Amino acid sequence: MSLQAVRGTKDILPPEIEQWHAVEAIFRDVAREFAYDEIRTPIFESTELFKRGVGEETDIVGKEMYTFEDRGGDSLTLRPEMTASVVRALIEHSLLRHSPVMRLWYAGPQFRYDRPQKGRYRQFHQFGAECVGSPNPESDAEIILVAYETLRRCGCSAFTLEINTLGTQSVRQQYREQLVAYLRQHHASLSADSQRRVETNPLRVLDSKDERDRAIIADAPSILDVLDDDSRAHFHAVLSLLDVANVPYTINATLVRGLDYYNHTVFEFTTTELGTQNAIGGGGRYDPLFAMLGGGDVPAVGFSIGIERMLLLREHEQGAPSEQERDGVYLCAIGEAAVLPAHALALRLRRQGLRVVTDVMRRSIKAQMKEANRHLVKYAVMLGETELADGTVVVKDLHSTEQQTVRQSELETILLAS
Ligand code: HAM
Repeated sequence: MSLQAVRGTKDILPPEIEQWHAVEAIFRDVAREFAYDEIRTPIFESTELFKRGVGEETDIVGKEMYTFEDRGGDSLTLRPEMTASVVRALIEHSLLRHSPVMRLWYAGPQFRYDRPQKGRYRQFHQFGAECVGSPNPESDAEIILVAYETLRRCGCSAFTLEINTLGTQSVRQQYREQLVAYLRQHHASLSADSQRRVETNPLRVLDSKDERDRAIIADAPSILDVLDDDSRAHFHAVLSLLDVANVPYTINATLVRGLDYYNHTVFEFTTTELGTQNAIGGGGRYDPLFAMLGGGDVPAVGFSIGIERMLLLREHEQGAPSEQERDGVYLCAIGEAAVLPAHALALRLRRQGLRVVTDVMRRSIKAQMKEANRHLVKYAVMLGETELADGTVVVKDLHSTEQQTVRQSELETILLAS
């Protein structure tokens, strides 16, 4: 049996990797413009972090974690998301001692044991940002704007920003009680999954895609009706800031998100273009999380975008990526005597920042020219017996097919000038 990548994981091969580089450059640009610094945390953490941070009753912790015991008997988990890890690192290194607000971004692989399908993988990648230290709506709006700018600059526009508030923790608790009372009245008509969730994680029933559940959810009490003054003021301030920034949104009172740490603002970027995997990104305010992880009372808000889903949407909207631009040089060595000087010349050009392909297969000149075209270089530089003897090279522009003989000492100037 031949070996294959594990189900739900995939190789990112050339030329697809070009798309990743392009969006990664955009992440870095947007993060720099909003003054977010990058953080990289380990891919595995102690299992306890996610149990406490994401929540025991969530799908992620209950069903989707890659948890294993290492040789020392410790229970470890491949990270299913980044927020808990970022908060752990902030607490561990007391980073907020030096600055009351920390703005951090990250990009990297995450792991969830979910049923693989288009846009849903067991190893996937997220780009995200967390603004830590401020309880104010300005930071909620800033985080949403970072996500929105990123999606737009990556070429995505066919998405909706859905937004809701879960209010303060006491509002959330009060709403939870009302919702449970309502759902219990309709218990018999709910799907089996939702019947179970009424007792374990009732807000998640609002997320159900089951037709029977949807009909019941449509008449459920709305959280927007139980908001206290503080929660309402916070939510309206976030919406006003989005209005000022011209960021369109839709209020969705049933949006609750699948992780336990949220309060106040929650949001999701959804699309109808990718089938069932409709969430390209999401996030919200998570003031309770620091305390859940032993870090005291620290307010925070953040988001993550699923990079694979965003790339699917980008390709859907932009079509297949346009042909790669020609770049660099193919150095053709003609005859054995030219091999060493050609390699020395290649190194000289690389040290000037040029992309240089050399022949390592001892091909004929005809085969080397074919290779040069396959590598999409701009120039072929040819070095044979005649050129070696008089200190020249032949430079062929592969786009115009024009050819000229130039002195070797002038080569960089000519190649770098164009
Ligand atoms: P999340 O909604 O669980 O939030 O994930 C964010 C995004 O990751 C989703 O909208 C989706 O695009 C992508 N994603 C999730 N699971 C998969 C999968 N199996 N395959 C492909 N893509 C997937 C969080 O992770 C929170 N940490 C967001 C956050 C940051 N909240 C506050 N700060």
